[in-house]
Amino acid sequence: MVKINAGGCSSFVKDAEYKAYVAKAMKAFDTLEKENGAGNDFLGWKHLPSQTPEELIAACEAVRDGWKAKGIDLVVVIGIGGSYLGARCAIEALSHSFAKQFAGKKDAPEVVFAGNNLSEEYVSELMDLVAQRNTACIVISKSGTTTEPAVAFRIVKEYIEKNYPDASDRIVAITDAKKGALKTLSTQEGYRTFVVPDNVGGRFSVLTPVGLLPIAVAGFDIRALLAGAAEEEKALAVKSEENPAVIYAAARNLLYSEYGKKVEILVTYNPKFQYLGEWWKQLYGESEGKDGKGIFPASVNNTADLHSMGQFIQEGERVLFETVVNIENSNRSVVIGTDPQNLDQLNYLAGQHVEHCSQMAQLGTRLAHIDGGVPQIEVSIERINEHNLGGLFYFFEFACGISAYTLGVNPFNQPGVEAYKKNMFALLGKPGFEALSAEIRKRLA
Ligand code: PA5
Repeated sequence: MVKINAGGCSSFVKDAEYKAYVAKAMKAFDTLEKENGAGNDFLGWKHLPSQTPEELIAACEAVRDGWKAKGIDLVVVIGIGGSYLGARCAIEALSHSFAKQFAGKKDAPEVVFAGNNLSEEYVSELMDLVAQRNTACIVISKSGTTTEPAVAFRIVKEYIEKNYPDASDRIVAITDAKKGALKTLSTQEGYRTFVVPDNVGGRFSVLTPVGLLPIAVAGFDIRALLAGAAEEEKALAVKSEENPAVIYAAARNLLYSEYGKKVEILVTYNPKFQYLGEWWKQLYGESEGKDGKGIFPASVNNTADLHSMGQFIQEGERVLFETVVNIENSNRSVVIGTDPQNLDQLNYLAGQHVEHCSQMAQLGTRLAHIDGGVPQIEVSIERINEHNLGGLFYFFEFACGISAYTLGVNPFNQPGVEAYKKNMFALLGKPGFEALSAEIRKRLA
């Protein structure tokens, strides 16, 4: 279960203020639970953990097993934003850090990601890899019309069709049940398809096939992921001032609204959690950054980033607070040895686990940052595994809904994302954008 400790805020805020913000968060909790707030037609994510049908889980596992039987050793997962970050976060968190470097037969195919940029070099280098491997592809787009994944998919699809007689068995699409170019194309080509439910937005979709299928194909246990999320779903549904999601929403809104803490840094202490930061930034940034309001979400991966961002966090503009994702136990054990010569002067650490050093770095940083004016919230899981990751995903999603309602914005829309797209379409000459294209060209002349 996810635990929270907001004690690192107590020297910054007054007790009465905290209580007032807990009351606001409790009201927002009611809005989320009674499903009568803004954007309430996008609450399908709330019961995904407890209500995902067995057939859907089995269908994801069937794709995994079918591709294994074909000897597929590379799966290209094409998608952007909410259609990729959750899967990438889970796969990076659960994989061996050096999985790619191990030679020999592997239990699961390597999963690589595409369609999340428009870099010609990236696509070209991806195709170098694809050409050497036994490849399959999962293409994910809820709207079915997003440019970045569509461009990547056209290129990968063309390669698969040219090189494999069973092309349609090697492509799976995850998209809307009825509409969008990807849906039409998949139906015509006879691809297996999975549905992104209408009432689940991209950034809340990690526990739909958008996340489940790539995670299953990568060899991880999606049943455990869902079970961990379901446990959290049950726990967080209890209305209480001790509810971790209520505490998180209250603390961050108080720091933002009353203390000018406009930037929240998600801090992790394991390189495997770098993409947790990326997933979390989209979740909170897109849900809260609107109507001229919102906490700017940033992330660091320590201890590496203590050596680059540490100075600013300690002494720069005092607009920051931190949310530290604490992992209580390591899955591996490495003890630092004794060196009789002690030339590196590290014998004072002999016999200690590397994880002990990490915990002390974390504790030392906590004290230093609090002394430097940076409040801290701590969110803990017991260790990294599918079960706890499912719980963490659900915790941050549920808390995000409460937090955005506490702030007074609709957590489930993203009107601002369209602005750049219109300009890009006009500049690329997409039919229908001729007038805007002429206007833009004038501005750029
Ligand atoms: O959360 C969102 O809405 C976005 O990040 C989308 O997930 C992203 O733009 C991809 O959209 P789509 O799945 O329609 O291709």
